[in-house]
Amino acid sequence: MISPEERLYLYWLGRSQWSGEGTVVEIGPWLGGSTVCLAAGMAASGHETKRRLHVFDNFIWREFMTARAALSLQPGDSFKSYFLRNIREYEEIIEVRERALPDEPIKHELRASSRRFLETDRIPLFEGFTDGESIKILFIDGAKSWRGLRYLLKTLCGSLIPGKSYLVCQDYKFWGTYWVPIMMTRLAQYLEPVHNVLGGSTVSFRLISTISPQLLEAFEDSVLTMPTDQTLQELDRASALLRADGDMVGSTNVLLSKVSFLVHQDNIELAIEEFKKIQNSWPIFADTEHLERVRAYLYREKFRRIPRPITLKLISRLRRIGKNAKLWVLR
Ligand SMILES: C[S@@+](CC[C@H](N)C(=O)[O-])C[C@H]1O[C@@H](n2cnc3c(N)ncnc32)[C@H](O)[C@@H]1O
Repeated sequence: MISPEERLYLYWLGRSQWSGEGTVVEIGPWLGGSTVCLAAGMAASGHETKRRLHVFDNFIWREFMTARAALSLQPGDSFKSYFLRNIREYEEIIEVRERALPDEPIKHELRASSRRFLETDRIPLFEGFTDGESIKILFIDGAKSWRGLRYLLKTLCGSLIPGKSYLVCQDYKFWGTYWVPIMMTRLAQYLEPVHNVLGGSTVSFRLISTISPQLLEAFEDSVLTMPTDQTLQELDRASALLRADGDMVGSTNVLLSKVSFLVHQDNIELAIEEFKKIQNSWPIFADTEHLERVRAYLYREKFRRIPRPITLKLISRLRRIGKNAKLWVLR
């Protein structure tokens, strides 16, 4: 699910930024595309690599994954065996654990409710490292909610070393994952931006001073209780960071994430207003693929919520009864 530039970037990180000191941690490897790049880079670094790449995922197949890989899996099945097969060449380097990050449910939104981890999924919660191991590179592509990212950082902040550790945020520039730029903006005084992958959504930061678990604990536990105006301003600041780097496309994509943030807050009218503002200032040279995706998302969310008139409801109920009746006849 990552771009060719991101694959090269992960290889480069493993080969030249990992010094052999500290581990490399990957959250959310899916079928191993990113894992193989990190591992191949580490193997080329010349350092001792045995079990130095720690990988965590809940390995639960979700419906949206089928469009990306046609495997014979049903939603809810484990895809771990496919992952293991794909990373076989580097298995000596990799320590794999089936762990989950907690996600806050967004019941009123289709996209989130079909992807998020539920307690009923019965995978143990991610618990970090207890052996004092420090982390040189933390590649995050599996923290798919505000709650999940806050929990991950709270669990790992004690293993991150100021001046050394990298936080590599794959979702920073993606319109559906507002929690990443919000979190990095809130932690701006502890981090310095170091890399921006132009052909992808990844932005990386180096830790400059220790983040305490108490600081993260003080943040809201759910997007539903985040202050709307302040959070929109944080997204403006995240967008400005990329604009200052000359990345106009990344900068507008971060602005687009305001729409999914507001939809998750159940504020669809403000989401539409923000969308119109962003659309009006869309750079003339920039690809409109993401803008159009967000338009379609907003359209679906808006019309799904408007209650259907009673006659339409009746018609669909009658149709259902008709279908069931047919099934009875067939039986
Ligand atoms: C976008 S995919 C990662 C793509 C991958 N890095 C690649 O290169 O193709 C996100 C991954 O995060 C995992 N994930 C999502 N939510 C999670 C959660 N709450 N706990 C643990 N893993 C999660 C998914 O199972 C999936 O493997």
